[in-house]
Amino acid sequence: MEVIIESDYNNMSKRAALIIAGEVKRKPDLVLGLATGSTPVGTYKELIKLHKEEGLDFSKVTTFNLDEYIGLSPLNEQSYNYFMWSNLFNHININRANVHIPLGNVDDPDEHCSWYEERIRQAGGIDLQLLGIGGDGHIAFNEPGSSMASRTRIKALDQQTITDNSRFFEREEEVPRFAITMGIGTILEAEKILLIANGKKKADVCAKFIEGPITSQITSSALQLHKHAVVVLDEDAASKLERKVYYNRVRDQKLIIEKKTGR
Ligand code: GLP
Repeated sequence: MEVIIESDYNNMSKRAALIIAGEVKRKPDLVLGLATGSTPVGTYKELIKLHKEEGLDFSKVTTFNLDEYIGLSPLNEQSYNYFMWSNLFNHININRANVHIPLGNVDDPDEHCSWYEERIRQAGGIDLQLLGIGGDGHIAFNEPGSSMASRTRIKALDQQTITDNSRFFEREEEVPRFAITMGIGTILEAEKILLIANGKKKADVCAKFIEGPITSQITSSALQLHKHAVVVLDEDAASKLERKVYYNRVRDQKLIIEKKTGR
């Protein structure tokens, strides 16, 4: 796992956006997995800027979002569908037909989950998956105890997640208790993974998933099994890491190699 530490939220967001933009330029028909939550908002702002100011082209990009609350229609302002359109898709030249976000209000959610997995397969798999991390260490909505082999399915939300996410709702009772989420197995099949985290509140859980044992109690620790996972943190989120000096040395060595080779 490569760990990149940036000074603050803005620089974390810029770095993440540059990594994504690099992949879009390398492969214009990139299959891009996307995340919601407050963390990626800055990254999406940077991507919008790169599109508007430098012509970053999303016209051939296909996207798959990680998750959606059960019971919310895509028009509900708290839905992840609504979030994605207002924070990113409405501001870039994405082709609407290439956007995939699970629907939380379908008649048969199980069938929808199978369909979603099939769509990912038909698209050739995810090239780059962006992730945030929940306070309990979850990725997407894979709560503690999720199977490391899990696929897209319905998941009951943990009380900590309900409390954490209640800030987006008027009252905690309004937070849906279930969600459709890509599984850990689904996420681990992405070619590359990029996880971003910021703030002191995420420091403990970041130290656990990066430097602690692999455990289904902290589902983000599954990234230790991935061949190409990059984590971009701000200083606050990185503040409990024990091997910070090493991560920074790797970064410095990479810069030297990049300068020498021009890559
Ligand atoms: C939700 C989402 C996750 C996200 C997490 C963290 O639970 N399902 O994908 O990573 O929130 O959110 P925030 O970035 O607001 O801390």
